[in-house]
Amino acid sequence: MPEFRNDFQSRAITERTGTFTDNMKLPIHRWFRYSAGFSATWVEGIIAELQPKTVLDPFAGSGTICIAADKLGVNSYGIEAHPFVYRLAQGKLSWEIHTHEFLEAITEIKNLAASIQPKFPDKMLVLLSKCYTEEVLIHLFKIKQAYLELAPTLSEELQSLTFLAISATLRCLCKR
Ligand SMILES: C[S@@+](CC[C@H](N)C(=O)[O-])C[C@H]1O[C@@H](n2cnc3c(N)ncnc32)[C@H](O)[C@@H]1O
Repeated sequence: MPEFRNDFQSRAITERTGTFTDNMKLPIHRWFRYSAGFSATWVEGIIAELQPKTVLDPFAGSGTICIAADKLGVNSYGIEAHPFVYRLAQGKLSWEIHTHEFLEAITEIKNLAASIQPKFPDKMLVLLSKCYTEEVLIHLFKIKQAYLELAPTLSEELQSLTFLAISATLRCLCKR
């Protein structure tokens, strides 16, 4: 056992563990780039080799380890301190939701957003106006309002998945 542990430890250090780049080609993982995330392929290899009954990731980030565990049918727990990152992980871990359910929910949010008047905060954060044009900000506040209005009517998984989908599109809308 000590020999195995030494081998395992040295591989854990020398192999390509800490890059999320490869995950951008993988289903679910690629839904949101999280630079601090581990390589899912590496994680899957370790879980497959050790065959644990349960996995605990005390620093779960965007959920790479729990998703890998799901894929291999292993029970897992994750703890993540950052509320936004935690919600991204929850969204990815809601991957079992049927596409039609997701599409129905996101279309409802989109339609409501298109029909409401945006409520702007009294004081706009400087960072927001630096990141987005005024036109884009109007759309974003409408989407936020529509999401907040409809979220309580959705299951927890759909709330997380639609939150993730909306968050992932923000990068594409950013000023270049
Ligand atoms: C290197 S990342 C983890 C990446 C993750 N294993 C993955 O592959 O996606 C470390 C994470 O730990 C979280 N973190 C830092 N301190 C924490 C704490 N005290 N409790 C829980 N999470 C914490 C950070 O917010 C960050 O998302």
